[in-house]
Amino acid sequence: MKVTVFGIGYVGLVQAAVLAEVGHDVMCVDVDEAKVTNLKNGVIPIFEPGLAPLVKENYEAGRLTFTTNAIQGIEHGEIQFIAVGTPPDEDGSADLKYVTAVARTIAEHMTGYKVIIDKSTVPVGTADKVRQVVIETLKKRNADIPFDVVSNPEFLKEGAAVSDCMKPERIIIGTNNDQVLDLMRELYAPFNRNHDRMVIMDIRSAELTKYAANCMLATKISFMNEMSNLAELLGADIEKVRQGIGSDSRIGYHFIYPGCGYGGSCFPKDVQALIRTAENIGYQPTLLQAVESVNDKQKHKLFSFLQRHFKGDLKGRTFALWGLSFKPNTDDMRESSSRVLMESLWQAGAKVQAFDPEAMEEARRIYGDRSDLVLVATKEDALKGADALVICTEWQNFRAPDFDLIKATLKQAAIFDGRNLYEPERMAQRGFTYYGIGRGASVNPII
Ligand code: UDX
Repeated sequence: MKVTVFGIGYVGLVQAAVLAEVGHDVMCVDVDEAKVTNLKNGVIPIFEPGLAPLVKENYEAGRLTFTTNAIQGIEHGEIQFIAVGTPPDEDGSADLKYVTAVARTIAEHMTGYKVIIDKSTVPVGTADKVRQVVIETLKKRNADIPFDVVSNPEFLKEGAAVSDCMKPERIIIGTNNDQVLDLMRELYAPFNRNHDRMVIMDIRSAELTKYAANCMLATKISFMNEMSNLAELLGADIEKVRQGIGSDSRIGYHFIYPGCGYGGSCFPKDVQALIRTAENIGYQPTLLQAVESVNDKQKHKLFSFLQRHFKGDLKGRTFALWGLSFKPNTDDMRESSSRVLMESLWQAGAKVQAFDPEAMEEARRIYGDRSDLVLVATKEDALKGADALVICTEWQNFRAPDFDLIKATLKQAAIFDGRNLYEPERMAQRGFTYYGIGRGASVNPII
């Protein structure tokens, strides 16, 4: 099938590459000339395992093309994906200006039937807005051309985006039209083998499903973080509690890892956007507000440990920081806990020596040259001359480091671990002062 994807961001590029991989003829449109030129030259704008070869192969095979020419894109596909960004407004609502701009452009230039698919995470009611924009634009042209709008939210995780997209757990289709459904079935048939993953519903339910999924996951994390704070104060170990509750199949082991807060491009933005949506219709979303505020506090957890340990005396100290990205296997630092920590440390007059396996360029891009941030080449280099080690991201190669070397290099044998990578007892045996998240018995036996 001929498919056009507007927006070559995370969602758009991965979706386009995966659709091309199964044989569809996919044209990607973006306003960013540099991005399009780079992609044609095999330069991928994001780090995502498996994406670069997929893009290259399909580009070379002619199934995946890139252009800045929207008209060409609109002519190309009967199916038109909108996968552009929906950045938060000043008040946290999702800003739909890019989505509606694409809808308008499609309507200005379409000459035959189009299925317009909202792939971006958009508030409930957006498909209606898109439909309205298209109707009004066609009216101005005096054109009577049929079209449909479908909500088809994406559930990919950064770092596993290609496999999530290749083997989706569910394909949510929001539509009120059976013919469109047939087209959707054809489009997704290669991903829908063995058992039916398609969940068909009305458009508004599909739009809310996306937010409900992300907010549910964020709720699980904030719940565990709240429990971890209690565990710490009560002298219990949240890691034992996690295993204890995870074994209940109704709760499960997934997404109950306590830590120094969730980040990324989705959870913080989507929780906030749903809060705004609720407030705008006069509903107080008490639970969602709590999820957000627990997370905001949790991002300050490591800094408060540091303040406590160094008795507020952080000025002039240097801290080794392992992990800048919001989670492993990505270079994405959006809403990352490491940023909250670094910014607090800088404000307190401390210096950071940071290492991340993928996000060094991104850190340089965000913070530029500053004397209180040294980006080093290895995790060992980060330790040199540092007072203590802080860990913000659970990259695999942080899990079994050379503890003797860490101890010999740091000024103090102290580790502040925001992802509970190590066992407190073993760390004590190795001679470290070890702060984990919610590891009460080792850190804080108050009661
Ligand atoms: C998320 C959703 O998982 C995905 O389905 C959706 O489409 C987009 O948002 P992503 O943001 O890529 O994906 O990352 P995810 O793996 O979900 O992690 C989000 C954050 O939660 C990370 O900062 C991670 O460290 C944190 N997290 C996750 C925890 O703190 N504890 C957990 O148990 C799980």
